[in-house]
Amino acid sequence: VNHLLGIKDLTQADILHIFEMAKQFKEVINRPIKKVPSLRDITIANVFFENSTRTRISFELAQKRLSADVVNFSASNSSVSKGETLLDTVNNILAMKVDMIVMRHSSAGAPHFLAKHINAAIVNAGDGTHEHPTQALLDTFSIKEKLGEVAGKKVAIIGDISHSRVALSNIFALQKLGAEVMLCGMPTLIPKFINQLGVKVSYNLRETLEWCDVANVLRIQLERQDVKNIPSLREYSLYYGINKELLDSLNKEIVIMHPGPINRGVELDSDVADSDHSIILNQVENGVAIRMAVLYLLAEKIKPKSVTN
Ligand code: CP
Repeated sequence: VNHLLGIKDLTQADILHIFEMAKQFKEVINRPIKKVPSLRDITIANVFFENSTRTRISFELAQKRLSADVVNFSASNSSVSKGETLLDTVNNILAMKVDMIVMRHSSAGAPHFLAKHINAAIVNAGDGTHEHPTQALLDTFSIKEKLGEVAGKKVAIIGDISHSRVALSNIFALQKLGAEVMLCGMPTLIPKFINQLGVKVSYNLRETLEWCDVANVLRIQLERQDVKNIPSLREYSLYYGINKELLDSLNKEIVIMHPGPINRGVELDSDVADSDHSIILNQVENGVAIRMAVLYLLAEKIKPKSVTN
């Protein structure tokens, strides 16, 4: 595979290989000299048709730590506003001798479409409500780092499952690594097809928290849905918001995760997000090492002779 389009395409061995590489790269980026020359003759374009803070910066830092040449494209200040198509946009970028495309797009399947039509490696940085593979890799890597193993762990994904690419990629990654998965949220935010994926479903937050070792909390993606279908954020917070009082009443330790951005006071209170139980910033830190591993392994396939340690 010369692309990373989704976790669905990876085997357990692929994921563990990425983890091994990421562990080594994490050591590298914690050294005083954080850079290695591995991708010094590779050029990568970060092509973002949707907003991002963590993913875009994390990919750019990963590329710079690997000594790749980097260009950044944001649709909002580009010629997309003049009517240029996705394929024309990317082909024009590739004509400038770019080797790899990291793309975020609001349409599910956009990177899969590109993979069929262009001659460059593609990394999916999030496609609509479909997949966000590097997020799931960094999430499961962070669980393994915190708890020693992913296999056998009970992981709850809580929130807006229907509109979340993080949820789907996490379900695939967690199951491939042997975790049990429970989804929790309002019935209108959990799609019916999800029952076919072998996950548990609960509409009750307390019951879910009593069950799980890890709670991966998601925000409501207001930008992807008709706001008439969801309650007010105050009402959502009342039934599905995680606060310290609720966690304390469980008399157990739960690892708290969130892919960001957090809507503080809605799905997660600050005294939970910033507590010792939270590994949210560890997730962000691990994202750079995971993305270095993914880029390194893909670059090995496209330019085997040029990649050096
Ligand atoms: N986790 C995540 O994808 O965050 P951004 O949208 O800020 O990239």
